[in-house]
Amino acid sequence: MVLVRDSFHSRIGFVLAAAGSAIGLGNIWGFPTNAANNGGGAFLFVYLIVTLLLALPALYAEIYIGNQAQKNPVSALGDACKERMPRFGRFAGKAGLCGAIMMLSFYTIVAGWMLSHALSAVSHLAGFVDLSTWLATDSTIRNIIFTPIFIVLGAAIIHQGVHAGIEKWSARLMPILLMMLIGLIVYILQQDGAIDGLRQYLIPDFSQVTNPKLVISAMGQAFFSLSIGVGGMMVYGSYMQKDKDIGKLVLSIGALDTFIAFLAGLLIIPALFVAQAAGQQVFAGGNLIGEGQLIFQILPALFESMGTIGLIVATGFFSLLSIAALTSTISSTEVPVSYLVEEKDMSRRNATWLISGIVLTASMVLVAFFDVLFGVVIQVLTTIMQPLSCLFYFLVVGWIWNRGNKLNDKARWEKDTKLKLWGNYLRFVCPVLLTVVFVNVAF
Ligand code: PHE
Repeated sequence: MVLVRDSFHSRIGFVLAAAGSAIGLGNIWGFPTNAANNGGGAFLFVYLIVTLLLALPALYAEIYIGNQAQKNPVSALGDACKERMPRFGRFAGKAGLCGAIMMLSFYTIVAGWMLSHALSAVSHLAGFVDLSTWLATDSTIRNIIFTPIFIVLGAAIIHQGVHAGIEKWSARLMPILLMMLIGLIVYILQQDGAIDGLRQYLIPDFSQVTNPKLVISAMGQAFFSLSIGVGGMMVYGSYMQKDKDIGKLVLSIGALDTFIAFLAGLLIIPALFVAQAAGQQVFAGGNLIGEGQLIFQILPALFESMGTIGLIVATGFFSLLSIAALTSTISSTEVPVSYLVEEKDMSRRNATWLISGIVLTASMVLVAFFDVLFGVVIQVLTTIMQPLSCLFYFLVVGWIWNRGNKLNDKARWEKDTKLKLWGNYLRFVCPVLLTVVFVNVAF
């Protein structure tokens, strides 16, 4: 029996879901923190360049592989490598699947923090001050409660399917996220000190632009932010009708993702300067004092100093982060779920709960050995697994996969010079550029 695959029902549905995957904690927390630590405007400038030169082509390759195969990432990479190295293709797909679970293991913990901070502000507003303090204070028990809540929220969307779950919820949540973000920016920019932050963020200090640390941070940030290298974008690409103009779609996803990161910078960097103007210590020796402190201490202290309005702003801010995290979580969860449904004949419901159980176990291991494991898992995923997967995608579309691959089809190149240039760019320039950066990151 041939089952009809669930799919996105419109281009805009696909773009919103993919942008939902891309727009997450990486944009609203990671990007502004990195920008504040790496010379503000200079970081923004380099980020835009690496996104254009390397991250968007990688996103293109990932979506293209999934879209052509119309299958889950393990089979999609297996098909693309069929002629030369089918086993390795499937192996790489499974490695991506592990990457997705690794990503979920730490991401759901951090997302749980966002949820508990949102509830903290709400309970403060409702007059439960002790509960509010408990919710805003880091503790193992808080992780044990909020991580599963977050995993269940994601699972509840995923098990409804691609169209009824992922597409519908992305279309509902993404506009809310944008409105909240704009509302918060308008509010913060009216506070004392905000303009200094704006200046620091928007005027690049070009002497920083060639700093290797800055280039490497921008690269890692761009890959993480665009969700490349764990198969999430590949599986979304596979749910889109075949042969759509992927170039245009990738540009829209990249533009939305970068726009939201840019807006988050407009919110957070001025907010830091507002906090500073209000007497808090925010910078030490030109650097922010600790990444976690930015979101969980400096901003909450700022919100608190604003009285009731501040609590409302805090609720908005942490709900914004929770929503952004939720739409990113579902794309990573869909990677192993699609594999189990298509290759192991499991029902979507069972696959969703099985994967959620695995993610929960992995995240609880991280909670139990937090100091040893948390940072290492993030490091391994973002500096090793994501860049290596991307390199592999470039090699697949540029070299390994021939039959049926328009990027490697010399006969089509004769008629289409743009395709030829693009194919050669992915084939030669991207792997070399990526290797150069990777070697710098790893060693
Ligand atoms: N892009 C997401 C963010 O910016 C994170 C993510 C990475 C999501 C990899 C899916 C896969 O937060």
